[in-house]
Amino acid sequence: MTERTLWHPVAQSSDVVSAPFSVLLLEQPLVLWRNAEGLVQSFVDRCPHRGARLSMGRVENGHLECPYHGWQFSSGGQCVKVPAVPDFTPPASQRVQAFEVQEAYGLIWVRLEPSDSQLPVFAAETDQHLRKVNCGPYDVAASAPRIIENFLDMSHFGFVHEGWLGSRDATAIAAYKVETTATGVLATGCKAVQPQSNLHSTQAAEVEYTYEVTAAYTAVLTKIPEEGSSKQGWREQIGLFICPVTPETSRVWFRLAVADFESTDEQLQTFQHTIFVQDQPVLESQLPKALPLDPRAEMHSAADRMSSAYRRFLKAQAIGFGTC
Ligand code: FES
Ligand code: CO
Repeated sequence: MTERTLWHPVAQSSDVVSAPFSVLLLEQPLVLWRNAEGLVQSFVDRCPHRGARLSMGRVENGHLECPYHGWQFSSGGQCVKVPAVPDFTPPASQRVQAFEVQEAYGLIWVRLEPSDSQLPVFAAETDQHLRKVNCGPYDVAASAPRIIENFLDMSHFGFVHEGWLGSRDATAIAAYKVETTATGVLATGCKAVQPQSNLHSTQAAEVEYTYEVTAAYTAVLTKIPEEGSSKQGWREQIGLFICPVTPETSRVWFRLAVADFESTDEQLQTFQHTIFVQDQPVLESQLPKALPLDPRAEMHSAADRMSSAYRRFLKAQAIGFGTC
């Protein structure tokens, strides 16, 4: 399995309405557009006629029209019209390469090579008690694996998120459990004392999380409600969904699934934004940009067992993009 056989988020569903939309996935320029049935299509963003960017064109009668000579392509990539030769019926070979597309979690997902891979699971999605809000995108000058690893890491809270997710007076990380799963790695029993763990915190609280890597560039945080809390039984989650754009740049979304129905979308997004812009400069400073998979390449502490397990998982999956 390689990263080309996995599903990756490339855009928000709301980005692709009536006009073509250009994105970059694994260094491959793609054009996204919606056909007459509302289904998103994803093609190589290069016209097979004379190489113009299809994303500069438009959607015309449910077909994608090239901006240069107006060739039109239908869903699946077949050329159906050459305006300069109106009577000509293009043969089946006259087409642009198309890729598989799905929409889920408010995002558009693309797979560059067919395989039996599944979309990463985000269990809270189907929980009607939880409200879903997306945050992002963030364009980050860091590799996708470095960003995932940052999300799995609690030992930076007291430094990067001082006064929010941690404090310099309580930096010890209690032992937590790490295991491998069918699709990634899981850390349970992750505890921290957080001064301001969410929008409504009025005092520091001990929180317990699980962190799960559900695909090479996807991770999910689950908040375990405290004993006796009114949220008993609710499993709030934050999904981190990353588009690997180039080996050193990424586009990032968070999907919140929370029990907070009072706050506005903007308030929820602002809190997440505050936290992420604290991470971003540190993430962008890390060298090498690619995540080293050789255990001897960087030094580790006992608090880093989840990150080490993630690196072993990427190595076992032969994920080369964004790693070294
Ligand atoms: Fe696209 Fe000519 S380059 S129609
Ligand atoms: Co952080």
